[in-house]
Amino acid sequence: MAKEKKLYFCKNCGAEFSQWMGQCNYCHEWNTLVEFSVKKNASLSIRGNNISFVKRSAPVTIADVPLSQEERFSTKDPEIDRVLGGGIVPGSMILAAGDPGIGKSTLFLQLALRLKGSRVLYASGEESERQIKLRAHRLRSENTSCFLLAENHLEEIIKHAIELHPALLIVDSVQTLQSSYLDTSTGSIGQIRQCTFDLMRFSKENGISVILIGHITKDGMIAGPKILEHIVDVVLQFGGDRHHAYRILRAKKNRFGTTSELGIYEMGEAGLQEVRDPSKILTTQMNFNSSGQAVAVALEGLRPMLVEVQALVSSAVYGTPQRSATGFDTKRLNMLLAILEKRAGFKLGAKDVFLNITGGIRIEDTAMDLALTIAILSSYEETAVSSKVCFAGEMGLGGEIRPVQRLEQRISEAERLGFDAIFVSSYNKIPTHANIRVISAAKIEEIFNQLF
Ligand code: TYD
Ligand code: MG
Repeated sequence: MAKEKKLYFCKNCGAEFSQWMGQCNYCHEWNTLVEFSVKKNASLSIRGNNISFVKRSAPVTIADVPLSQEERFSTKDPEIDRVLGGGIVPGSMILAAGDPGIGKSTLFLQLALRLKGSRVLYASGEESERQIKLRAHRLRSENTSCFLLAENHLEEIIKHAIELHPALLIVDSVQTLQSSYLDTSTGSIGQIRQCTFDLMRFSKENGISVILIGHITKDGMIAGPKILEHIVDVVLQFGGDRHHAYRILRAKKNRFGTTSELGIYEMGEAGLQEVRDPSKILTTQMNFNSSGQAVAVALEGLRPMLVEVQALVSSAVYGTPQRSATGFDTKRLNMLLAILEKRAGFKLGAKDVFLNITGGIRIEDTAMDLALTIAILSSYEETAVSSKVCFAGEMGLGGEIRPVQRLEQRISEAERLGFDAIFVSSYNKIPTHANIRVISAAKIEEIFNQLF
């Protein structure tokens, strides 16, 4: 009989401990440890007939491991392929996490329907087969090799997956999975962790790739996907602003590739559409002539994209000036304001400053600094900047404009979209063959004098 053992894990970082502590040893957060129980010395058996799918392991020499294990298969979705680094590695396990209602089920059902010719098993504990069919109908897609299974018992799912032997098993979602071999309730940490371990083992031993969907919620259940991050091979994060149609897919962890790539989708009437040309949607392409706007040439992964940023500077009505940013780090905004105040002499200390990145997406590229600074100055001076110029530069604490990486690529993107000029740092090596005016500057004042 399996013995029950108590373990503790940290809700914040996912670290595991054998005893309770007030503070997590790894992330040093307080009161984040929660208890869960696991059963020791028990191997999972398929309910009823006791078939164990667990194979005994044996050491092999590295030369004997076939190289074919690194081959990938395409998901037929260029954005997912890009984020994964070229497709799914057979036998790998992918956790796809995101807020409820963001479009996870839609994205992966769409993927299942696209993989024509390869068998896909879509197991859902959230929706009935009829509901899934209705969604597929909405997506206007059919695939005769896509099998549906409305089931939340892990042993049943694994049993069917072994029989069907699909190329890909999609499980929606980890929170609804139930392993009959633990008594705790569905969605509890113990269940989530055990089910993921078992799926991982199943996936590795059978060479079947698994995509496991997981919800992130504001309360403690965020711990679900958090503790799973250590177990799985790839963690994808699907997010976006609920009030916008754009959705971003990122890899947070990837054992087989980079984590810097990004996939962009637009949620429409018939599911998620890939956005092939992000620059087109992230800039309004209108001749804006109001103050406070500027275009940044940002880079996400290997993809350059032009992004419109907006700033509003106004006199603070209340005592403490407000600073808020949508799609940008508020701390970095405060840093930019401090640089402007201290190094360039702009009196922004008593001003409210609001920033907005259009499209509702979040880009973490410090090359956006220059455009943001210009947008702030443009609003402050109430002078519009031409919508035909764009900016790529990082701000240094001394007020200097610092170089950015892959400038050549950024310049070509600006050129392709018909911009007249691009402002860059003079510390960057400027390519000579560009068909666009490249204006370099070392200090923010130099650009200010040219524009305002
Ligand atoms: P869903 O995939 O169910 O989200 P999740 O699995 O992450 O909880 O998608 C939820 C939203 O997407 C829902 O509000 C409806 C919307 N939606 C569309 O706008 N267009 C579509 O074609 C589909 C299928 C869904
Ligand atoms: Mg769902």
